[in-house]
Amino acid sequence: MELYIHLPFCKAKCQYCDFNSYAGCDDATVFTYLAALNREIAFASKQYGEARIDTVYIGGGTPSMLDSKRITSLCRALNEHFDLSGVKEFSIEANPESITEEKLAAYSEAGINRISLGVQSLDDRNLKSVGRLHDSETAIEKIELAGRYFDNVSADVIIGLPYDSIELVKREISELAPRLKHMSVYQLTLEEGTPLKKRVDEGRVLLPDSDETADMTDAAVAALRERGLERYEVSNFARRGFESKHNMGYWTREEYIGLGAGSHSLLKTSDGSKPLAKEIRFANPKDLNAYIGGVNCVDSFDAIPRVEMSVLSEKDILNEQIMLGLRTSRGVDAKLTQGMIPKELERFFKREGDRIALTDRGIEVMNGILVRILPL
Ligand SMILES: C[S@@+](CC[C@H](N)C(=O)[O-])C[C@H]1O[C@@H](n2cnc3c(N)ncnc32)[C@H](O)[C@@H]1O
Ligand code: SF4
Repeated sequence: MELYIHLPFCKAKCQYCDFNSYAGCDDATVFTYLAALNREIAFASKQYGEARIDTVYIGGGTPSMLDSKRITSLCRALNEHFDLSGVKEFSIEANPESITEEKLAAYSEAGINRISLGVQSLDDRNLKSVGRLHDSETAIEKIELAGRYFDNVSADVIIGLPYDSIELVKREISELAPRLKHMSVYQLTLEEGTPLKKRVDEGRVLLPDSDETADMTDAAVAALRERGLERYEVSNFARRGFESKHNMGYWTREEYIGLGAGSHSLLKTSDGSKPLAKEIRFANPKDLNAYIGGVNCVDSFDAIPRVEMSVLSEKDILNEQIMLGLRTSRGVDAKLTQGMIPKELERFFKREGDRIALTDRGIEVMNGILVRILPL
């Protein structure tokens, strides 16, 4: 089972960001949130404390903007309530401007063994234009600092930012990849309601078009491969053995518990007669006060008010297995897609033994393929 913990605080909101994160929260709000989170951890452990936890991921928001003692006590609470002795990967997200040597040492001391830094770009004009609080020099400096405390360092980059070009993407990969075990390379999504979307709609910002972004992504994939980081999922690249176990858990539909505002869980429950009779997915409310109030007014994990609760049908499960599995280079068991792939789409797939996966070209047009093959 995987554990995800959400810390939804940021210093400032980036122009493109639609994640559940809040800027400008005061200490009292952070304190109240962490108290509710501790309560949710305790409730979850009463129900799932015996489960074998494989990975833990502290994400955000910006976990690194909190004092290190907050992270240390969060890790202590997790250790007190769950058996983390079998945890293979314990990650935390950090932003370059707020991560420090003191925090890195505290994370390592607390049992965290992997850090993911939000670099986004190595062009200062890009960083400034989307409201990032660091510059490229700080990004490199903090990656190197993180490397002194963690063997497993990852960085996130976004492709499709205003000043992006193939040359820039190649330079980013050549500077970042040698210092990393893992990279996530996302194509920019222009999310509804974000300041960036508004500025683009008003013609105040010009972004690369989808063909240019696709060419930049191809250049990134090739440059990463040259430096030993293979694509193992649409947006994720790793040296062998450093694929994110936590994220692989999502794509292979392991059970996970998400704790904190807006976090999702997938739990497989038994009705006693058949094993794994039911799979349920649910989420916590995104709003901080709704989450805090919800956790504080109940006495058990099951009683916490949830949103988006659904019991998955067999068809839902099959759709998810295919949709998520085809994101990865391992693909899915070919039996799952038997009879679903029309002849004209076969060229986008590759088969190896009993597995079927998308080719690089197939990944580029993945959404179109899924619409055609899934039994929706
Ligand atoms: C949970 S977010 C935040 C992590 C961290 N707070 C940061 O900003 O570096 C994880 C990653 O999602 C990516 N991301 C966020 N919004 C995006 C968007 N609109 N389009 C593409 N990637 C995005 C960024 O690369 C970011 O590092
Ligand atoms: S720091 Fe990360 S989570 Fe916070 S607003 Fe920026 S992209 Fe979103």
